Amino acid sequence: MNVDVVLGLQWGDEGKGKIVDYLAQRYPVIARFQGGPNAGHSLHFENTSFVLHSVPSGIFRKGTVNIIGNGVVIDPVIFREECQSIESLGIPVKEGLMISKRAHLILPTHRIIDAASEHAKGSLKIGSTLKGIGPTYMDKTGRNGIRVGDILAPGFPERFNALKSKHISFLQQFDYTYDPEEGEARWMEAIDYIRQYRLIDAEYYIHQCLKENKRILAEGAQGALLDIDFGSYPYVTSSSTTCAGACTGLGFPPSKVGKVYGIFKAYCTRVGSGPFPTELFDSEGELLREKGKEFGATTGRPRRTGWLDLVALKYAVILNGVTDLIMMKADVLDGFETVKVATSYVSGNLESDRFPFDTDAGIHPVYKDFRGWNKNLSLIRREEELPYEFMTYVRYIEDAVGVPVSIISLGPDRDQTIIRD
Ligand code: IMO
Ligand code: MG
Repeated sequence: MNVDVVLGLQWGDEGKGKIVDYLAQRYPVIARFQGGPNAGHSLHFENTSFVLHSVPSGIFRKGTVNIIGNGVVIDPVIFREECQSIESLGIPVKEGLMISKRAHLILPTHRIIDAASEHAKGSLKIGSTLKGIGPTYMDKTGRNGIRVGDILAPGFPERFNALKSKHISFLQQFDYTYDPEEGEARWMEAIDYIRQYRLIDAEYYIHQCLKENKRILAEGAQGALLDIDFGSYPYVTSSSTTCAGACTGLGFPPSKVGKVYGIFKAYCTRVGSGPFPTELFDSEGELLREKGKEFGATTGRPRRTGWLDLVALKYAVILNGVTDLIMMKADVLDGFETVKVATSYVSGNLESDRFPFDTDAGIHPVYKDFRGWNKNLSLIRREEELPYEFMTYVRYIEDAVGVPVSIISLGPDRDQTIIRD
């Protein structure tokens, strides 16, 4: 048995939560492999809406095992709040949720460093979610981090204090006022809460599942264009959001990667700073934001919106080895007279369909126009009923990218999903 992977192919917020929740019916094990509470995965079912930040999106499916992998960074306070609000819906959390001992902890001072360094960058800020993600991964690769397994060791308070002191010295370079004790008591209480969970060697657990032929679904956070290596650096997150990150973030070999589900919106959004070649600044962009309810699930910030970018999508597909495309929020495009997709970029005299090293430098997308459809896609439940104009759009994308669109999502609910096998 292999590990199937679900990934975002754009700048995050593609709809990974809905799709993982949907696919979780077929997988007994769901595992998050990177990112942390910067993620906001929205789920809708039975008139309930829920946003998950750290907990895998299989938590609402009875009997599913959910794993937080070693590649994830955890803020204990956010984790506890999230688990308690899931429990308040009558859903048991502790039985079905396990955490890798190798996952790193976000300290209160990591969040302060995130805020101070963004503040110092001024207009060049990344637009971070300010959850302490970057500083925590810096300490991980700098070999100073504290891992979940460390909370079981007797020397944990000393390790915490040593790292906190390091952070306080580091913060001296910034002109930034803060209270180093802020949030510490709650953080320690939340650490006690985490001790009630099964803290495991997740790599062995996953290996055992594979041996027993249990199906595993790895759930990505963010998207390919926010990847630390391949995204629009430095306007990226601090982890490997591409398929390779699933292997390093859970501890299974590349030879065990099965299906790779690549999720994309039928248009594009981005939250935070950084290049966005197909961004719209006009009333059509505003309409996409309104109809698509494009406001951040984690920070509430309005998302930037624009047309689908096939240059970027093809790049994301080759980086990830996508086997199945999943198109989200197609219904948001209902009623547009013309729908556009970028097929190449022009920069100076050069036209190219490659995603360049520097996407900020005077790039002009070349668009192909499609006739819109005047039909309410959100009510459609069968592929045969999808309008001709919409299917022309879908088939063009499949041909251009060379991968089939196997799921089309036409709204936030579980039943607004068309499977094309
Ligand atoms: P999900 O999983 C969209 C963006 C931030 C910022 C940049 C770096 O819901 O798709 P960070 O806090 O990681 O240091 O911020 O990355 N970002 C996201 N944008 N969806 C996300 O997650 C994101 N997680 C981070 O807005 O531009
Ligand atoms: Mg999100």
